[in-house]
Amino acid sequence: MSISTLNQLNTIKTLNNIAERGLNVFNTENYTIDNDSQSPDAIVVRSFNMHSMELDKNLKAIARAGAGVNNIPVEKCTEKGIVVFNTPGANANAVKEMVLTSLIASSRNLFDGMVWVKSLDGKGQQIPKLVEEGKKQFVGKEIKGKTLGVIGLGAIGALVANDALDLDMEVIGYDPFISVDTAWNLSRNVHRAMSLEELFSYADYITVHVPLTDDTRGMFNKDTFGIMKTDVHIFNFSRGELVNETDMAVALEDGKVGKYITDFPNENVLKMKNAVPIPHLGASTEESEENCAVMAARQLKEYLETGNIKNS
Ligand code: MLT
Repeated sequence: MSISTLNQLNTIKTLNNIAERGLNVFNTENYTIDNDSQSPDAIVVRSFNMHSMELDKNLKAIARAGAGVNNIPVEKCTEKGIVVFNTPGANANAVKEMVLTSLIASSRNLFDGMVWVKSLDGKGQQIPKLVEEGKKQFVGKEIKGKTLGVIGLGAIGALVANDALDLDMEVIGYDPFISVDTAWNLSRNVHRAMSLEELFSYADYITVHVPLTDDTRGMFNKDTFGIMKTDVHIFNFSRGELVNETDMAVALEDGKVGKYITDFPNENVLKMKNAVPIPHLGASTEESEENCAVMAARQLKEYLETGNIKNS
């Protein structure tokens, strides 16, 4: 059996460590179907976009080392009998820590403050005096007592909600895939589960943890910004396309949205006033990469050896 990873050096290291059990693991930067000697039974992939790739006729499974599978042509795989796995929960702690870090950092103007201090480079001995004068523009807000809206109460959303309660926040939740009642019964991690409209209108901070689907694409748009509080901070560690960027640029310009913290920078985001772009670091920790690689390798090994499909 052979498993290939696409551009995933950390994943390949982990897979190699556990590969003594009969898996032939190799990394291929440019996977092609012509190269028969490298024709794998399965592929482990992280963010690499597989939509335009031809899928090898021998390919039996693809494991996404992460939560979202939007970089994988799932329908095409299903037609060809290729099983697609993801690694639910394996990177949840990493993303949770990043959300909470960003929540406090944005509330205390840490990102902007740091960029401003760096801009004082070259001012020599004046720097301490300039800092004392300039710091007034970065007075922050404490998150204690403020309301955090968590959209998506799966592995990541539930962890975020739980720890936000420990930080003395009011936590409200909504999940697009389960009813308000079910969300309330399932999740003890929020003070209240509610409709999306209610969440938008009550939250001081909103964090989103849902997959990108036709229903969730553009869920942040001029209509939904219209019902939010002025100066709301929005945290997007899920997928860039959940946000209508034209409408977000206007909402930031008007001050309706105070800050947009996004793990999905592009040309539009870099031009937005008060956007905080992060280079897709939400799940990027050594621990999470290892967790995802191990879960993916176990899933593939079990499937290739026994035919059992276990997506956990
Ligand atoms: C995910 O979907 O879990 C993330 O995009 C993981 C990653 O950074 O690759």
